[in-house]
Amino acid sequence: MRILVTGGAGYVGSASVEKFLEAGHDVTVLDDLSTGHRAAVAAGAALEVVSYGDRDAVQRILEGRRIDAVLHCGAKSIVGESMSDPAKYYRENVAGGVALLEAMRVARVNRIVFSSTAATYGMPDRTPISETDPVRPINAYGETKRSVEGAIRWYGHCYGLRSVILRYFNVAGATRDHGECHVPETHLIPNVLAAAEDGRELNLFGDDYPTPDGTCVRDYIHVEDLASAHLLALEATAPDDIRTGPQSGPCEPLICNLGNGSGFSNRQIVAASEIVVGHPIKVKIGPRRAGDPPVLVASSARATEVLGWRPAHTDLVEIIGSAWAWRTANPAGYRD
Ligand SMILES: NC(=O)c1ccc[n+]([C@@H]2O[C@H](COP(=O)([O-])OP(=O)(O)OC[C@H]3O[C@@H](n4cnc5c(N)ncnc54)[C@H](O)[C@@H]3O)[C@@H](O)[C@H]2O)c1
Repeated sequence: MRILVTGGAGYVGSASVEKFLEAGHDVTVLDDLSTGHRAAVAAGAALEVVSYGDRDAVQRILEGRRIDAVLHCGAKSIVGESMSDPAKYYRENVAGGVALLEAMRVARVNRIVFSSTAATYGMPDRTPISETDPVRPINAYGETKRSVEGAIRWYGHCYGLRSVILRYFNVAGATRDHGECHVPETHLIPNVLAAAEDGRELNLFGDDYPTPDGTCVRDYIHVEDLASAHLLALEATAPDDIRTGPQSGPCEPLICNLGNGSGFSNRQIVAASEIVVGHPIKVKIGPRRAGDPPVLVASSARATEVLGWRPAHTDLVEIIGSAWAWRTANPAGYRD
């Protein structure tokens, strides 16, 4: 397959590019490097530094490189920023996302896998969350992802776009060559490891939730397992694959949650990190953060049943160990 990966210089995208190249595919990364890194793009992939919101440029790239399918990983994805500057999120994620779909329509590329998020569910009524549960985002980030899901759905109905929408929970860990390097970093595991490195106190948001140890419980998926799911999802968009619709006519997105199947509390993350780094990590308990549900855990039963996907790295110490190994090998992150 000739695959275009938007956001392929970012955390999730770069690990997937590595996997696609290993599987023998031809990969083009399309990234504006706004939060990604040139050095994160594997040597075997081509890099086009452009925004996926530039419809004409994207169309030229799709046609010029004869792309078969798109993995759309590029996005703005910081919840707090989406609440202080929602216009940026609508411009980038929604307007940019529709420009990408338009470029694909004109260039007749009709296969897409979309990186969506658990944030589309908002405050769930039950756990584990399944794909049929209500989608009610409580922040602008989740809402913009829901909007793009909707656009993909209508492009499927009206133009026959074949799609898989993957709603991931918390992504964690690293491959040997690709790890997490965000500024600012808002994710728990890299922040715990940063606290382990420099001895600063880590702030946990609340320990009075109705969970076994009082701290929030989240579902962590290894970035390598996500990359495997991306490959299976791209394969499911093949023209003769009934999982994403008939050979011609209206298509319905295949929507799958991706999680580890079990949740870990914030305190369990700290305890597993202490095992990995080999010393205690200082923690202080702060107030709860607005809009944090006590438990967010995915049912990934559909991804297993329909895509044949099973996470291979579910052990927390292993997941955090891979993130730590990448950090210690790359203490300054990516060089550019
Ligand atoms: N990391 C997680 O825990 C997590 C969880 C759920 C969903 N997601 C989704 O996964 C995707 C990847 O997340 P990530 O953690 O790798 O983020 P990231 O910021 O590391 O990567 C995003 C990449 O997209 C690029 N980008 C942003 N806007 C662009 C534009 N207009 N044109 C071209 N490139 C653009 C950035 O430069 C960056 O390389 C996002 O869509 C995010 O919403 C991530």
